[in-house]
Parts: sequence; structure tokens; C-alpha cells
Amino acid sequence: MNKIVLDENFIFMHVNPNEKTGFAMRVLALGDICGSIGRQAVKERIPYLKERLGIDFIIANGENSAGGVGITTSTINEILNAKIDCITGGNHSWKNREAYDKFDTEERVLRPQNYPAPAPGRGANIYILPDGRKIAVLNIQGTTFMDALPCPFQAAYDFVNSLDDDVIFRFVDFHAEATSEKKAMGFALDGKVSAVFGTHTHVQTADAQILPNGTAYMTDLGMCGVEQSCLGMSFESVLQRFITKRPASFKRAVGQGALNGLLMDLDDTTGKALSVSLFRENAPRTKATVIDLETDTAQPQEYNAENDADRK
Ligand SMILES: [Fe+2]
Ligand SMILES: [Fe+2]
Repeated sequence: MNKIVLDENFIFMHVNPNEKTGFAMRVLALGDICGSIGRQAVKERIPYLKERLGIDFIIANGENSAGGVGITTSTINEILNAKIDCITGGNHSWKNREAYDKFDTEERVLRPQNYPAPAPGRGANIYILPDGRKIAVLNIQGTTFMDALPCPFQAAYDFVNSLDDDVIFRFVDFHAEATSEKKAMGFALDGKVSAVFGTHTHVQTADAQILPNGTAYMTDLGMCGVEQSCLGMSFESVLQRFITKRPASFKRAVGQGALNGLLMDLDDTTGKALSVSLFRENAPRTKATVIDLETDTAQPQEYNAENDADRK
């Protein structure tokens, strides 16, 4: 396993961390951005890292960006302003109706494609970089241990069949619960898309890999939010549900944020993966962030390096 040290906040990346060449497209995919700490973490680290690592395009799941459950016009704007190029969604995309208009008008926001029509917004789109390279992104949702939606595999095949040959960079965020369903999707699309990665579980899996026919794959990207939490919620509030077996309101976790995801280099002529790297990154300034749990607004306090003294 290799390690690259960028600065003190970098945790590790692995598999094949070649220096980017002039012939590679570099894409970062981030797991579910969770609440205001998640948004703060993205704002703190992503603009810097995008430039430092020469990342061409960033996809991030935003279904939990508002209060830990849901997405709003405000959180969409906040995430896009942090140099995220495409926001994907999931089962929580629908929580806030006021965002539906934004789904219709903002092409950089996706929701799972395989929701029954009519549903606001779109589940796939093609983005054109300033240098002319085209990037297609599809967002689909699993059906195992989740709502019984139309078949995500059919949606994936339809997506692939709809693309012109010059759209060689193709990314699929498969928002799903079951690892088996995600693995099967990776196999189904191997060689047909540049990458298949999972979201929704908020726990990063250690299986970043390149499948036999060149598709980058990872079962779940993980979460951008408070690392010491139960999927972004406070341990205490979640524990009550397990112990009492009665409804209890979840409370958002407070603490230092981290970013989880997958970094990929792709061949500029085939769109296939050249290298994949597990991405984990601390956002130490979020530790000093004060959040209003009612409004989910965040106020970063003045940064004090001494606050980071005990950070590992
Ligand atoms: Fe989520
Ligand atoms: Fe989800």
C-alpha cells in the first residue's frame, strides 16, 4: 500500500497513486454530504484539493446535505459554490419540496433516474468541460431493502445505450443499501462506463478497484460529515431507538468533519480507469464550527491551530 502526504489533513490513498499525466482525466466522487458539518468540510477542503490535485470534475452526493436528511435550494447553492460540479441524490432527495424547482432548473443536480414519472428534475446529464471533453453522470437507486422502484439495471442499460460514442467518460452513482446489488451493478456495467460507485450507507468500503474490463468500482464512497457519529447522527439518539425499540428523534452529530470518496484517473482516449484511490480527508476547522441544530446553519469560529493539537 502506498501513501501520499499532501499536508497534515490527508489520511491516505492507495491502489495506484500515479502522478496524473497529461493524458488522464482526474475525477473525484464524494459520499453523502451530511448536514452543516459536512458542508463546512467540503468548503474547507475541496476548493484547495481540486486545484492541488488537478481534479477535472467532482461528483458529490447531496441527499443529506440539509440537516442530515434532505437537500434544499440553499444547500445546493452552497455545495456548488465549493467547486462541486455535479450533485447526485437518493431516497432523501424528496424531503424538501421547495428544492423541486431547483431540480428542474439546475442541470448540475441529479436525483435517481429510476423514480416513476412524473418526478421533478433529471437522473442523468452530460457535462462538457471547457476543453470539450464530455462527462456523463447517471444517478440510480437500488431496490433491495429500499423502495420498490423501477429496475435500476434497466435504467443503467438505457443510459449506456443512449450515449454517443464520443461521450467516453461515464459515471454511475448507485444509491443502494445492499452490497450484493452494488457489486452486481459494477459487473453489469464493467467496460461500459468509467466508474460505478455506491452511496447511501455512509460507511466507506475498502474495495476500491478496477474491474476486469476497465471500470473503476467501489461499493460505497462513505460520507462527508462527522466521523464520530452514527451515519451522521449522534450516537445517543440512535442508541435509544435500538434499546427501547420505540421511535426517538435523531439528533445531528457535532464534531470534526471528514471527507470520504474515491479518486480516479481515467484514460483520455478510452475513458477506462488507469488508477483508483481511496479518498479520506480530515477537515480540522470544522471542529471549531458552531452549528444551530434547529436551522442547520453553521458559523465557523476563528481558526485556532492549537485546537488541532490533539488531532491524529
Ligand atoms: Fe445518505
Ligand atoms: Fe440514502
